[in-house]
Amino acid sequence: MTGNKNHWYDGLFYDLFIAPHQDKVFAQVKEILTEGSSVLDVGCGTGRLASQLLDKCGRIEIIDPSEKNIGIARAKLAGSPAGKVLIHHTDAFGFLEKSNVDYDFAVVSYVIHEIAKEDRDVLLFALATVAEKIIIVDYLVPPPRNYCGLLNELVEYAAGTEHYRNFKSFVKGNGIAGLLEKAALKVVREVRNHPCSSHIAVLEGKTGRNLEASAPQPIRNNTRTEV
Ligand SMILES: C[S@@+](CC[C@H](N)C(=O)[O-])C[C@H]1O[C@@H](n2cnc3c(N)ncnc32)[C@H](O)[C@@H]1O
Repeated sequence: MTGNKNHWYDGLFYDLFIAPHQDKVFAQVKEILTEGSSVLDVGCGTGRLASQLLDKCGRIEIIDPSEKNIGIARAKLAGSPAGKVLIHHTDAFGFLEKSNVDYDFAVVSYVIHEIAKEDRDVLLFALATVAEKIIIVDYLVPPPRNYCGLLNELVEYAAGTEHYRNFKSFVKGNGIAGLLEKAALKVVREVRNHPCSSHIAVLEGKTGRNLEASAPQPIRNNTRTEV
């Protein structure tokens, strides 16, 4: 993975036609966060979640390797109180490898399904080194046999070959539940199918980490590009 990764649907298209559908799940994420907390939003897309958290969080750092998405996020968050939001154009792996900052929460919303299978537990392990709690949001597996399940499948198919392959491997691996079986992290809360076809899991990060467990793989040495 490089420090810059654009999909055809990134930028304005994502911001106008995809991101607004996340508002119900974002409201739940907001409810889980504690007042004044520090948050790292990994794979922030166009910054819609961050913009909705401004009145609750003390500090928000957002990262995304898509230049188009980060561009929109930057514009959206331009009027935020000084020093409250930090925006990084970067891949999660390169960022976490170099980070020495701690957060109360790391949020990873609809990112896990699109990264390569072998990188998923690596990402979780890395997040557990910087965050007290990790909030994962992604598709519910098995997908519901209804309109939501069908729509998700179509959207993922339209996203492109590599994206769809990763989505299918996420489903085959039993989604978040499959990932949590492997992760040495304690699950403190889960919400399934509310809103429709979503799965939210809150994990203990730094405090609940099994310190005996070793990292699944070393984090790869990726290029980090910040703007
Ligand atoms: C489906 S979008 C989700 C955006 C937002 N979190 C949301 O819930 O609407 C997935 C985002 O993850 C980002 N992403 C993909 N691979 C990533 C990686 N290795 N590190 C950080 N972000 C990544 C993509 O660029 C994209 O913006």
